[in-house]
Amino acid sequence: MHDHSFLWGAATSSHQIEGNNIHNDWWAWEKHPGHRRSGAAADSWQRWREDVALTKTLGHNAHRLSLEWSRLEPAPNSWDTRATLHYQELLQAYRAAGMTTFVTLHHFTNPLWLSRLGGWEKAVALQHWLRYVRYCVTHFGDLVDFWVTVNEPTVYAGNGWLKKRWPPQKQSRWLVWQVLRHLAQAHSLAYSEIHRHLPLARVGAANHLIAFGDDRRRAFWFNHYFLRATRGTHDFLGVNYYFPAVQNWQGPNSDLGWPIYAAGLTEVLLEMKRYRVPIYITENGVADATDKLRPDFIRDHLRAVEEAQAQGADVRGYLHWSLLDNFEWDLGFEPRFGLVEVDYTTQKRTPRPSAYVYKAIIEQATR
Ligand code: BGC
Repeated sequence: MHDHSFLWGAATSSHQIEGNNIHNDWWAWEKHPGHRRSGAAADSWQRWREDVALTKTLGHNAHRLSLEWSRLEPAPNSWDTRATLHYQELLQAYRAAGMTTFVTLHHFTNPLWLSRLGGWEKAVALQHWLRYVRYCVTHFGDLVDFWVTVNEPTVYAGNGWLKKRWPPQKQSRWLVWQVLRHLAQAHSLAYSEIHRHLPLARVGAANHLIAFGDDRRRAFWFNHYFLRATRGTHDFLGVNYYFPAVQNWQGPNSDLGWPIYAAGLTEVLLEMKRYRVPIYITENGVADATDKLRPDFIRDHLRAVEEAQAQGADVRGYLHWSLLDNFEWDLGFEPRFGLVEVDYTTQKRTPRPSAYVYKAIIEQATR
């Protein structure tokens, strides 16, 4: 970590911060009675300049964000020039601030028209996806350092097609399998398409990894299935780590009741060594409204990264989830994941003490 090329920053996703993503499937789903609505979210679509400036103030040298497919392509093969310019300006601003950019192409949301065609349940999604990937490479290719094709395929498929938590709230083992298979194909297609245009591009995916301890069977399905299905098409691995799978947990919990266990990060990082490509932590964070837990959470998880490095894991960056408080999907705005607090009535941003703890760590490591 004391190597100067190590990347330090935070991550966000379009639907969770931008506000008014009226053309995607989540927006449609949020309108149902009893569902939380994203509304203006953190209003980053307007306040992005301030948000870029914040990452700089907080000492970051990298940032992960996602492109909102439904903004770029609100109707099939009809492209929005303003949205395209917006993302170009945004990515240029990160460049100008000296940040390395990680750009996610799919972070849970789909254009509404795609979901009406059956979304990821259907193979037809792949041809639309390919056209979208091509558009992104052509319009943003020179502004992206790391491409993250899809975010957390297992979480996405599990919540939408098994647990009935997220749209389309189905429960079918067959469909989970179809969705996962199509996302694996989508990743590999994107990998080749991006490389066809940009041979030196670095392309990967962000996987949600759980520390399963000795439960190798569950680790195999949850942590490794997607990676095995897409083997050979990862220039790097994106690791999202939040919690271990434990029963009767006695230790600390986040506001969401998730067990806090930093050693689990070492465990999953070591598990990734077998793929023999560089690893970036593309998400790691804690729901903690009062910021009581976050300072130690960050310190302990960074120590866990060092431990994994000492044992041979090639970890080259850490992106905290999240830069800002944001719309936590079906749970709404209550969970607070931000290094920076957002007051949703005024949209005022206030860095929490942990943001400065993180900044001091970065400064020390990069001195
Ligand atoms: C997702 C984020 C989410 C975070 C906290 C990850 O599963 O990629 O979108 O906000 O976890 O739950």
